[in-house]
Amino acid sequence: MEPVLSRRPHDRVTVRAPAKVNLHLSVGQLRPDGFHDLTTVYQAVGLYDEVVLTRAAELTVTVDGPGAEQVPLDATNLAVRAVSLAAAHTGQDGRVGVHISKGIPVAGGCAGGSADAAAALVGCDALWGTALPKEELSGLAAQLGSDVPFSLHGGTALGTGRGEQLTEVLARGDYSWVLALSSGGLSTPAVYGELDRQRESGPVGIVHTPDEVLAALRKGDPAALGRALRNDLQPAALALQPSLRRLLDTGRDLGALGALVSGSGPTVMFLAREDAHAVALAASLAGQGVCTAVRRADGPVPGARITEVH
Ligand code: C5P
Repeated sequence: MEPVLSRRPHDRVTVRAPAKVNLHLSVGQLRPDGFHDLTTVYQAVGLYDEVVLTRAAELTVTVDGPGAEQVPLDATNLAVRAVSLAAAHTGQDGRVGVHISKGIPVAGGCAGGSADAAAALVGCDALWGTALPKEELSGLAAQLGSDVPFSLHGGTALGTGRGEQLTEVLARGDYSWVLALSSGGLSTPAVYGELDRQRESGPVGIVHTPDEVLAALRKGDPAALGRALRNDLQPAALALQPSLRRLLDTGRDLGALGALVSGSGPTVMFLAREDAHAVALAASLAGQGVCTAVRRADGPVPGARITEVH
């Protein structure tokens, strides 16, 4: 149950925001604005960052949890940018203390930074009692990053444009994912840049529609979904981190219904048959030394949600 909110301001707000995986990511041409046209199907999965916002003397950010040392603590932090943007939009002073507890892999292709930004937007809105309409929050989210509107929205959705334009899709069933983490992290612009480089000597990028993924989701058929998974960024991520190939093969050998690099990677996602298979798959992957950590996460789950207000 979400806490009941009012238009009155609060002193402290806690928000939980989920990781995402891309069930389909088809990348088209590089646009003049530096982004690529794409079609994607996002699913929010049950692996979370928690963001606590408090009234403070100035805008500050602290981070804990796995990979925290890789998260910037300056004005480039996406949650800090979200607070500044929301403050400018609503006329608030933006003096907020932000504390992020990371549960989502950092620089892993699972929208961890976008989750923090979405959480900060929702949290500031409650902290200040500004009660912004959903569409306005989504508009701010799109200014912060291509995946931030989805981190607000959650569930399963089709993303077009650069990923920020969302359409609800009919999705039945719950899906058991195993996420295998690798050290290092991959930079999203570097992976898109590698894709452009590969395409200089190959076919140009065409945006494919996710017909098979959408049909599998409509039926609630995990085996069909596993077969239909697609990510045009995968060859670029594999070129930058060749060890991911062995990880993908290992998961397939262990009976995963589908295996795919998540977003720009290096996290690899495996679709399990059901929960018991996910437990076994996670244990086997962890035991084989092909990744640094494994997490189980079911999807779909809701987007950024307030869990506590004071
Ligand atoms: O939107 P976001 O800040 O997450 O994008 C990070 C980078 O990823 C962009 O600067 C761009 O290099 C690349 N990108 C892209 N096309 C997209 C989304 C992201 O080229 N649709």
